[in-house]
Amino acid sequence: MSYRVALNFEDGITRFIDVKDGEKLLDAAYRNKINLPMDCSDGVCGTCKCRCEAGAYELGDEYLDEALTADEAAQGMVLTCQMVLKGDCTIAVPMTSSACKIKPAQQHGSIMEVAQLSPSTILLKLALEQPAEFLAGQYVQLDIHGTGQSRAYSFSTKPGTKEAGFLIRNVPGGRMSGWLSAGAKRGDKMSFTGPFGSFYLRAVERPVLMLAGGTGLAPLLSMLEVLAENGTDQELHLIYGVTRDGDLVETDRLDDLAARLPSFSWTSCVADPQSPHPRKGYVTEHLAGTPVEAGECDVYLCGPPPMVEAVRQSFAVRGFTPSRFLYEKFAVSVAA
Ligand SMILES: Cc1cc2nc3c(=O)[nH]c(=O)nc-3n(C[C@H](O)[C@H](O)[C@H](O)COP(=O)(O)OP(=O)(O)OC[C@H]3O[C@@H](n4cnc5c(N)ncnc54)[C@H](O)[C@@H]3O)c2cc1C
Ligand code: FES
Repeated sequence: MSYRVALNFEDGITRFIDVKDGEKLLDAAYRNKINLPMDCSDGVCGTCKCRCEAGAYELGDEYLDEALTADEAAQGMVLTCQMVLKGDCTIAVPMTSSACKIKPAQQHGSIMEVAQLSPSTILLKLALEQPAEFLAGQYVQLDIHGTGQSRAYSFSTKPGTKEAGFLIRNVPGGRMSGWLSAGAKRGDKMSFTGPFGSFYLRAVERPVLMLAGGTGLAPLLSMLEVLAENGTDQELHLIYGVTRDGDLVETDRLDDLAARLPSFSWTSCVADPQSPHPRKGYVTEHLAGTPVEAGECDVYLCGPPPMVEAVRQSFAVRGFTPSRFLYEKFAVSVAA
C-alpha cells in the first residue's frame, strides 16, 4: 500500500511522489531523488519542518519539543523525518524546488478536441500519455507548437485522468490562441511543464465564495469537479462575470455541477451596459446574499489582473477579510 503526496515548493512548483505505508516522508523524498531540507534526520534539529495542508498522518512521539512545539503541531506543521502517512497529503515545503534539486515535470499528449465555445473562448482538450497530476486550481506552461515559447493555462478538468481540459481566451494577435483558432487540429502533439501555483483547493471548513472573471472560470471548474466527487455540506457559491453575453461559456457544465453538488449554486453577470442579462455590471456589484454577508467564508478569486484588484479593493472598502483568501491573476505572459 502507498500514498500519493504533493510536495508544493516555495516557487510554486509541485512534484508528486509515492510514499510507502510506514515509510517516513523524508526517506520517500530521497528515494525519489528530492533533497528535502534536513540535518539530523532524528527529530532533533527542526530543519525538516514543513506544513501539511491536507491529509492524514502521524508524527509519533520520538521528536524534541525544540524541533516542533505542540502549538506548531496543532497548526499542521510537521517534521518530514518523523512523518508517517495515513492518507494522501499535500505538503508545503518552505524552500524553492531548485534548492531541493528538482525540475518541473514534463507531460506529453495530443489534441482530442479544439473548439471555439464563443468568439472569445477556446476549449482545448488533450489526450495525455499519463494521468495529469496536479492540485485542482493549478496551471501548467503549455508549449506553443513549433515556436519554443509557452503560455500559462489552468486546468478546467479534475486531476488524475488522461484527459486534460483548458479554457483559453482568444486574444487578438495572440500566439497560442491564434494557433489554436486557426492551425491546430485533432491529433496534433502538445506538451506542457508543471504543475505550478499556490492557487489550489484547500480543505473546505466553512462557506466558500468563488469569483471568476472570463476564462478565470477554468481553475474553479476543476475545483468544483473535485468537490462534486468528494462531496461537501458547506455552502459554495460562484459568481461568474464576463464582459459580453457571448463570453458566457460552460453554463451547462455549471448547471450539471449544481445538480451533482446540492450545496453549490452559481450566478453570472455581464459588464456590457447594453446586455439584456438580468445582472449587469462587475462581480463586485453582486455580492449581496453571498457568504460574504454572513461574515466567515473562504474566497477563491481568478481572472484578469484588473478584476482581481477590483475585488480586493471592494473587500477592503466593505471591511471584509475572508477567513482564507486565494487568488490568481491571469497576467499576460512575460514573452508576450
Ligand atoms: C498563472 C496563470 C494562469 C493562466 N491561466 C489561463 C487560463 O486558464 N486561460 C486563459 O485564457 N488565460 C490564462 N492565463 C493567461 C494566458 O497565459 C495569457 O492570456 C496568454 O499569454 C495569452 O496568450 P496568447 O499566446 O494567446 O497571446 P500573446 O501572444 O501572449 O499576446 C498577444 C498580444 O495580446 C496581449 N494580451 C495577451 N493576453 C491578453 C489579455 N488577457 N488581455 C488583453 N491583452 C492581452 C499581449 O500583450 C500581446 O500584445 C494565465 C496566466 C497566468 C499567469
Ligand atoms: S531533520 Fe532534524 S528534525 Fe527532521
